[in-house]
Amino acid sequence: MNKLAAKAASALCTLGLSVALATTVYAAVDRDAIIERIKPHGNICVEGDETCGLGAPVASASASAARSGEEVYNRFCAACHNTGLLDSPKFGSGQMSARAEEKGLDGLLANSISGINAMPPKGTCNDCSDDELEATIQYMIDSE
Ligand code: HEC
Repeated sequence: MNKLAAKAASALCTLGLSVALATTVYAAVDRDAIIERIKPHGNICVEGDETCGLGAPVASASASAARSGEEVYNRFCAACHNTGLLDSPKFGSGQMSARAEEKGLDGLLANSISGINAMPPKGTCNDCSDDELEATIQYMIDSE
């Protein structure tokens, strides 16, 4: 009789444990389901965060490979500098080299970043890094 009682108690105990375990697992699954259900419809992927946006790195000045001076020039600077528009130093005329002698490459770079008179800041290449701008100015000087 005592043995039977012990067996019964042990069986009850196992049953209780299983129920407790099942409840915990169920609760965990339920919680995930709730989080899934109430999560926002859209997620914002901040530029530079490579953990989102399908894992593809988002293009940005710092993350992407630097463009060559020639590429930047043709895309952003040629509109004015090819023809000397608005009295800009004309491409290939020697005017940029003359300015470089006067102000140094650093001086030209600083004015390109901030803009000078009719020359817009960064020459309209707003996502250009300083290095890209410097390479572009160097390209303009080398082409004279
Ligand atoms: C909207 C026309 C325009 C665009 C676009 C433009 N520039 Fe200029 N830039 C000018 C003008 C005008 C000047 C002459 C400013 C002055 O000295 O009065 C100038 C001057 C400069 C100078 C000489 C600055 C100095 O201190 O003498 C540099 C260097 C230069 N530009 C680089 C660039 C680069 C690099 C780009 C493209 C990323 C660019 N510019 C795009 C109009 C432009």
